[in-house]
Amino acid sequence: MIRGEGGDGKFMAKKKAYVLNGPNLNLLGTREPDIYGSTTLSEIETLVASKAGEHGLSVDFRQSNSEGELVDWVQEAGSKAAGLIINPGAYTHTSVALFDALSAVSIPKVELHLSNIHAREEFRRRSLTAPAANGLIMGFGATGYVLALDALAALINRA
Ligand code: DQA
Repeated sequence: MIRGEGGDGKFMAKKKAYVLNGPNLNLLGTREPDIYGSTTLSEIETLVASKAGEHGLSVDFRQSNSEGELVDWVQEAGSKAAGLIINPGAYTHTSVALFDALSAVSIPKVELHLSNIHAREEFRRRSLTAPAANGLIMGFGATGYVLALDALAALINRA
């Protein structure tokens, strides 16, 4: 846990947000830029870190192509984070395991998609994971990550 100086000169623990990214999101920047934009995942991480600072949060930003690793990270977030944002990529539409993991952790959760999954192929219109999230943000490209952090900070501060 990162610590920062509070107004009274004492050191206070910063709350942590996990930002988890699923399969193929490591290719952002070159992957179907007409759909996902040209911002890379590392540029998104920088945007998220700056927004997190405004909210007094620290961020753990991760990407994996493996479903099991994402499940492990969601479970870990349950004990180590104040909230999480997840873009499950294609696992959104297939993963009962991720739905179960998200349902099992009681921290605030925001599901995020760069594209509007309801405006795309039929198979993308159903999210198995969405019912386990407090809310969803989609269709705003890389900016969605910043919006998701605003939403998550509001949920954390309300919790
Ligand atoms: C995505 C949408 C998914 O359908 C797709 O499989 C992705 C990215 C998005 O961010 O728009 O990998 O989650």
